[in-house]
Amino acid sequence: MKKVTTTIFVLTAITLFSFTKPAPPQDSKTRGKALYETYCLTCHQDDGSGVPKLNPPLSKTTWVNGDKKKLIKWVLSGSTDKVPIDGVTYDNNMPPQDYLKDEEIADVLTYVRSSFGNKSSAVTPAEVKAVRATIK
Ligand code: HEC
Repeated sequence: MKKVTTTIFVLTAITLFSFTKPAPPQDSKTRGKALYETYCLTCHQDDGSGVPKLNPPLSKTTWVNGDKKKLIKWVLSGSTDKVPIDGVTYDNNMPPQDYLKDEEIADVLTYVRSSFGNKSSAVTPAEVKAVRATIK
């Protein structure tokens, strides 16, 4: 009798376990947030506000919310030119982020374009791939 009880218990456990679904895949914005925290946050800050005179904000800037091709190119190439950002110059350089995969650039820019008060459309890996091909 004990054996039967054990068998039933084991079968129930296996059945329950097989019904437990794996965690749902994360969406682009969620993955982008994690990438942002790893690769961009130190300079552009948690809330995208930047650091006065050093690193520009990513909230509501023309670069972030404007032409996606220019934005992707900027992030892949970085900048040492002290380009004025909406009329203000910043002393730091932005290192090229071209070590990130197409999907990663797409995810991080999708996150940035829909956070910090920004409400712009998502960026796809295909768009990043197309821009990367023009700068290699
Ligand atoms: C070492 C500091 C640093 C890191 C890390 C960094 N940036 Fe920047 N970023 C800068 C600086 C400095 C500028 C402005 C450079 C200039 O004006 O020439 C800039 C400019 C920008 C701009 C264009 C201007 C604006 O504010 O809209 C975007 C977009 C941007 N960065 C996104 C990112 C993203 C996304 C990441 C992470 C993948 C990142 N940056 C990582 C320092 C950094």
